Amino acid sequence: MKNQHHSTAGAGDIAMAELLDLDAEVLHTYLSDVTAWLEELAGDRPPRRILDLGSGTGTGTFALLKRFERADATTLDISPHMLRLLGDRARGLGMADRVRAVQVDLDAAWPALDTVDLVWAASSLHHMADPDHVLTEAFAALRPGGLLVVVEMDFFPRFLPDDVGLGHPGLEARCHAALIAGQSDDWGPHLSRAGFTIEAERPFAIDLRPPFPASIGRYAQVSLQRVRSNLDGRMSADDLATLDTLINGDGPEGVLRRDDLTVRTTRTVWVARRP
Ligand SMILES: C[S@@+](CC[C@H](N)C(=O)[O-])C[C@H]1O[C@@H](n2cnc3c(N)ncnc32)[C@H](O)[C@@H]1O
Repeated sequence: MKNQHHSTAGAGDIAMAELLDLDAEVLHTYLSDVTAWLEELAGDRPPRRILDLGSGTGTGTFALLKRFERADATTLDISPHMLRLLGDRARGLGMADRVRAVQVDLDAAWPALDTVDLVWAASSLHHMADPDHVLTEAFAALRPGGLLVVVEMDFFPRFLPDDVGLGHPGLEARCHAALIAGQSDDWGPHLSRAGFTIEAERPFAIDLRPPFPASIGRYAQVSLQRVRSNLDGRMSADDLATLDTLINGDGPEGVLRRDDLTVRTTRTVWVARRP
């Protein structure tokens, strides 16, 4: 595996990498549903060369490589830390020879790339300063007839019951209402503008109930911490204090020890083809 990156990780990258890995662990069934659907759409020409844009720690990369056993992948990300973890995971899975990780700022000029059959961009386009530039480059990287897959989260996962037992019923709903402004985007017009034909747009509703993997409490904690970091000044001091107790409390009310968690979220997947 070729890693073109160095330097140390920032706190933001470390926290994000943990969240991405937990996401992959807890939501793996949904990812498997997405790749099974892609296998159907690809028909008698399954992808051999895959490009993962903003790959993070490789959640999408490895799900695709497991589904398409004869494929290899180039993963592009701006973060050396993410790519380092992705490399470790590739070695752990015995897939190192199928992955090439390249550090690149997708908003800048792209390196020369081989033509690919499938481009995957999960939860990454909304991070770009200029997503239309990224889509134009993705179009150029694809062979005619190749597929671009864009995945975006409609809203942060929800974990809590309406009444968390600490007063203030409806807390999580209020958090999400405070965050919702400007969060979701319709990528269809962006894809059309870049020259793609849209094949499908499909929501994947996720509604997980116990039994959960042991990491569920930590997943809820890290996710809610991320939600919390965007809420200062947007909610009452009482609500924020209750949220802090849920996130950090080490008693039975804290998410690490609660036995009433669920996971509810929706991801939308757009599949577009280069004509
Ligand atoms: C929310 S993560 C998604 C990671 C992965 N696709 C997944 O679904 O687990 C977004 C990723 O985009 C990367 N990223 C953000 N801006 C970028 C840029 N300008 N160029 C390349 N990668 C970028 C981040 O480093 C991060 O790994």
